[in-house]
Amino acid sequence: MKRTHTCGELSQDAISGSTTLCGWVDTVRDHGGIIFIDLRDRYGITQVVCDPDDNAAATEVAKSTRPEFVIQVTGTVRARPADMVNARLATGSIEVVGTDVTILNRSKTPPFPLDESKAEKVHEELRLESRYLDLRRSSMQQRLQKRHKMAIAVRTFMDAQEFIEVETPILTKSTPEGARDYLVPNRVTPGTFYALPQAPQQYKQLLMIGGMDRYFQMARCFRDEDLRADRQPEFTQIDVEMSFVDAEDLYGIIDGLLASVMEASGHPVPELPLPRISWHESMDRFGSDKPDLRFGWELKNLAPVFEGTDFKVFGNVLKNGGCVKAINAKGLAGVPIRQIDEWTELAKSHGMGGLAYIRVQEDGSWKSPITKFFSEVEIEGLKSTLEIETGDLVLFAASESALVVNEFLGRLRIETANQAGIIPENEFKFTWVTEFPLFETNEAGRLVPMHHPFTSPLPEDMHLLDSDPAQVRAVAYDIVLNGVELGSGSIRIHDPVQQGKMFDLLKISEEEKESRFGHLLNALAYGAPPHGGIALGFDRLALLMAGGNTIRDVIAFPKNHKGIDLMMDAPSPVDAKQLHDVHIQLDLPPEVEA
Ligand code: AMO
Ligand code: AMP
Repeated sequence: MKRTHTCGELSQDAISGSTTLCGWVDTVRDHGGIIFIDLRDRYGITQVVCDPDDNAAATEVAKSTRPEFVIQVTGTVRARPADMVNARLATGSIEVVGTDVTILNRSKTPPFPLDESKAEKVHEELRLESRYLDLRRSSMQQRLQKRHKMAIAVRTFMDAQEFIEVETPILTKSTPEGARDYLVPNRVTPGTFYALPQAPQQYKQLLMIGGMDRYFQMARCFRDEDLRADRQPEFTQIDVEMSFVDAEDLYGIIDGLLASVMEASGHPVPELPLPRISWHESMDRFGSDKPDLRFGWELKNLAPVFEGTDFKVFGNVLKNGGCVKAINAKGLAGVPIRQIDEWTELAKSHGMGGLAYIRVQEDGSWKSPITKFFSEVEIEGLKSTLEIETGDLVLFAASESALVVNEFLGRLRIETANQAGIIPENEFKFTWVTEFPLFETNEAGRLVPMHHPFTSPLPEDMHLLDSDPAQVRAVAYDIVLNGVELGSGSIRIHDPVQQGKMFDLLKISEEEKESRFGHLLNALAYGAPPHGGIALGFDRLALLMAGGNTIRDVIAFPKNHKGIDLMMDAPSPVDAKQLHDVHIQLDLPPEVEA
């Protein structure tokens, strides 16, 4: 070993002993000829002192170092003078008197400062270009260490519950998870392609048919979709599947898993079982299928208040079977009018005519473009339904479509709460969202699975499958933490006839059924056990546990918002021979050709 200790290890009981440390020069200071180096590695920082009166040669070398040089220091440990003790550092009560300093490697001046306070202000793209330097920062080091601890906790917990980790192929056939596939051309059979898995969905079901009973995998997934702050084109799932279970059994396992991950990442263990809310109730009360339960501000139904109102905007909507709701954004009465204008634009983009509001002023009076149309009874009804007080901002939405009202107010609820700064940062509020609809209608007006086509309908809704499929609920659930969808899963269809019927409802042709799903339908016909599962987004979980601004902060080598790895410069063109080998001819748009 080139070192006897790490830079985070030495403390008072090492005093008078000798040591050899290796690490990076964090800072180097010259105090009247005496050289102080803060030496850094993954474990911490240790102060090294070189005095020319004691050791001229070592001091000379120390003096020639620069930040990010890699050095080896041998010396003796001594107590720092009382007034020099740094209580913030684990090693803050000692220093190493360097008797031998060796430069192991030099460093150019980094393109950005690695100092935590400054690095956060550096443009992220610059940090991603030299990610290997960015990774030296203590916050990145801590996040990746926490991620590692979480992965260990997952494996330990799952192993104790008799789950076995099975690897599934990366070169595979596409599974319908709703995004575009990444394709890999096949050299051997011209014109055929592998797809990278969007998730190991069919494999894990096939493992159940294979009798594996309880499977999990830290699974890499690939999806060519629009990227957001919580999405990456490649990401990791804690992928889980179990045989002979119903949803209840699965909630129990995942509750326990999340509790042990919370513990491993140093957070208080949540009370179990984790709460549950149906999809329908979640949409109604929070306007979202991933409700943030760290604060109130629930959506209130105003139909009972405005039934038969003279105010046309609400009256007409209600007469046509529509929906009028409001939220009370506590304490936001004073937001500038241009902020309300901005939210009005948001309302319009959701298809609403406008955004009615009430500001409750200091003197208790209401400022509003609409209250003049309300009766005494309506005003009293509003006050009690929304618990209106001085300083409140009440925001209304009305539409023939309850979904439109819910989705808009759900979004506004989050925006206003962020604006008011009321969302507690160190709280963890989990909830299961259960009984998702089986289908949703896509832009083209076609029924598509809300989760995926292998999801089982809720038995009590089965009779609606032919007559009113849009009303059918599924045995499908999400686990949500602080308004983030952490994971999604379902109990699967295990009967080949029912699976075939599902493909029919989705208007999947006989040929497509055979070519895309033939293997699954075949397998289901050989004694498939009842089974179900879930997949948790491990990167999202790591972000919530370890902190950071975006999902990129918990991934060692992430892609930017355009899917580019700025450090490796991938994706990149390949040479003509490589293309020829895999039988590909380019057909590029003219601007790229140029
Ligand atoms: P789903 O597609 O909902 O379900 O994905 C499960 C979870 O994976 C995470 N996730 C992502 N994380 C980062 N970047 C992405 N682009 C991304 N996409 C998804 C989310 C999500 O909740 N096979 C099914 C699960 C099942 O039915 O068992 C599936 O993949 O946290
Ligand atoms: P109007 O009668 O169109 O002038 O609207 C009266 C008030 O109701 C204005 O403040 C509008 O912003 C508001 N408003 C109009 N349509 C809606 C709607 N669908 N939901 C909530 N408020 C609305």
